[in-house]
Amino acid sequence: MKVIITGAAGQLGQALRCRVPAVIAGEPVELIPTSRAGGQGALALDLADAAACRALVQQHKPDWLINAGAYTAVDKAESEPELARAVNAGAPAAFAEALQATGGRLLQVSTDFVFNGAQGSPYRPDQPVDPLGVYGATKAAGESAAAAALTAPQLCILRTSWVYGPLGKNFLLTMLRLMREREQLGVVADQVGCPTATQGLAQACWAVLEHGVSGVQHWSDAGAASWYDFAVAIAELGQVAGLLENPARINPITTADYPTPAQRPSYSLLDCSGTRQALQLPPLHWREALRQVIGDVVA
Ligand SMILES: NC(=O)c1ccc[n+]([C@@H]2O[C@H](COP(=O)([O-])OP(=O)(O)OC[C@H]3O[C@@H](n4cnc5c(N)ncnc54)[C@H](OP(=O)(O)O)[C@@H]3O)[C@@H](O)[C@H]2O)c1
Repeated sequence: MKVIITGAAGQLGQALRCRVPAVIAGEPVELIPTSRAGGQGALALDLADAAACRALVQQHKPDWLINAGAYTAVDKAESEPELARAVNAGAPAAFAEALQATGGRLLQVSTDFVFNGAQGSPYRPDQPVDPLGVYGATKAAGESAAAAALTAPQLCILRTSWVYGPLGKNFLLTMLRLMREREQLGVVADQVGCPTATQGLAQACWAVLEHGVSGVQHWSDAGAASWYDFAVAIAELGQVAGLLENPARINPITTADYPTPAQRPSYSLLDCSGTRQALQLPPLHWREALRQVIGDVVA
């Protein structure tokens, strides 16, 4: 089974590469990783170049393409909407069009930021999207563009939330650094979602291929947290693991206290129950996942 991965140098891309199953559906897996710069075993692919995205599919004719690459700088996207749209909507559109012709399948990774957060209860996969910012709008456009060219069983859209891991740019690693540098930190306590560790997310992506799951799916770790709760847990578990000697005191603040260019959903929990069943993966509480990731940071 031939599988292309985009964004191979990103958080999810690296986790996917660490957990490649030897065999899927009885066939040995042949992996073709791509990243912006190429190198380290990956082909170079600029996701803003739709023609290059189409050509890659036409050349390799993959059984699956996991589109883990994305323009993920939520605030910067507000001032670079065209680039964000080219990467987040143009690339999935090009992949889907090319896969329609070759007969391969697309796993399009998407985000909780396609929702406006006003609902106050977990979002089901079939609910209408209403993004608040450019990043969410371009990811939603990527979902629609993929769905315009491909239907089940050729398309799976997997939305996830608050992704972090032992590598890359993320909230965990930023907090660990700031908690060493500062005496006090203010962290937003009125945005609620669920942290999702890259290793579990990668496992879910591979399970999509193993079980041939299609349609819109939701995946996050289990439970709920504010960014403040997440930060407090990082301080506690980081100290237990010996990563932090004397962590900064963490103070809860409001979104209004910490203005950002992009508006974020205040509540973006995803209802993952159907997807967990389809992928045959049990829930893992986000705090337990965090403990495991902190172990990887120490190791
Ligand atoms: N991070 C989150 O909190 C979060 C939450 C919900 C959903 N998601 C979704 O989950 C998926 C994986 O995200 P992640 O956390 O792994 O993101 P990430 O660490 O930012 O990785 C994204 C990768 O895409 C690459 N990329 C960006 N623009 C590119 C371009 N023009 N050409 C080629 N590559 C390009 C980046 O390369 P460079 O490093 O060179 O820029 C980076 O390696 C994405 O679809 C994202 O939308 C993420």
